[in-house]
Amino acid sequence: MDIQEKIKAIEKQIEAALQEIKSSKSLLELKMRFLGKTGEISALMKNMRDVPPEQRPNMGKILNALRQWTEEKFDNLEKSLKQLELKKRYAEEKIDVTVPGHRLPGGAFHPNTLIKNELVSVFAGMGFEIFEGPEIENDYYNFTALNTPADHPARDMQDTFYLTENLLLRTQTSAGQIRVMENKKPPIKILSPGVVYRSDDDATHSPMFSQMEGLVVDKGITLCDLKGMLDEFAKKIFGENVKTRLRPSYFPFTEPSVEVDVSCFECGGKGCRLCKGTGWIEILGAGMVNRRVLEGCGVDPDEYTGFAFGMGIERIAMLKYGINNMKLLFEGDVRFLKQFKD
Ligand code: PHE
Repeated sequence: MDIQEKIKAIEKQIEAALQEIKSSKSLLELKMRFLGKTGEISALMKNMRDVPPEQRPNMGKILNALRQWTEEKFDNLEKSLKQLELKKRYAEEKIDVTVPGHRLPGGAFHPNTLIKNELVSVFAGMGFEIFEGPEIENDYYNFTALNTPADHPARDMQDTFYLTENLLLRTQTSAGQIRVMENKKPPIKILSPGVVYRSDDDATHSPMFSQMEGLVVDKGITLCDLKGMLDEFAKKIFGENVKTRLRPSYFPFTEPSVEVDVSCFECGGKGCRLCKGTGWIEILGAGMVNRRVLEGCGVDPDEYTGFAFGMGIERIAMLKYGINNMKLLFEGDVRFLKQFKD
């Protein structure tokens, strides 16, 4: 075949092949086939060695023209393919800013947390500081130092989970009272929220629950101060119209001891289902710190007096939100929890 024919054939081949090309990737492959180092046009160039010298300049021209022609063809197609591909990409990646976004369901505070935060903010407003003690306590802090030595019948008031002879899961945040008094001189005004444990389980009791303890020790503190502070607290938590009353009770670490009721915030004291017809709802235990407890912590009971109070956070949450089964507060059921979203 003479060279002109060969060139014609190659040109035809290239034109036909270019027709088929749909992407710049396959274009590149084709380009290598003709223009690459081992490509067909390069092979022709290499053959120049066999061409008689007098024909070489002419042959060189012809081959260069072919190469240029081929390069142009490829470049042109490459440009238009690239443009097409870019257009396609833009179309695919187009963002419609008017499409409504996916809303992620937001979380909400657990009712216990809501109540705890509310209590903390009320008491913080009265100048209480927060103290958090350990959940695993030893017998001394949980009982003995709280005037409840071994064999004291009051130990039966709380069914205790013992870990060892001496270590237990604290049954009351009152244990924190001792830790604070051992480490701080009066005046003391602390609030101690935390989880406590008792072997107790029914609709209104759970083996794990939360308490909030308060302790005030200073010169001249009386039961009247306790009553005044609780009045204020009850109004802030349950509403301006509620009243409080103290009923005599017993705790080994307070003397006198009281149970504190608020007038029913549901019926205003007339009697309803919430207050079981009595007009009053019990909310916490309290009392004047027993002198023996003060003495045990190195606080002189002739110089200082104090009051303490402790309440169950779940109980307050159940009262405030009308929850009838304490289990709801521990199951983590989203259908229940999402009702507390503001
Ligand atoms: N610790 C008592 C309880 O768990 C509550 C309480 C605290 C009573 C402080 C008096 C003073 O039942």
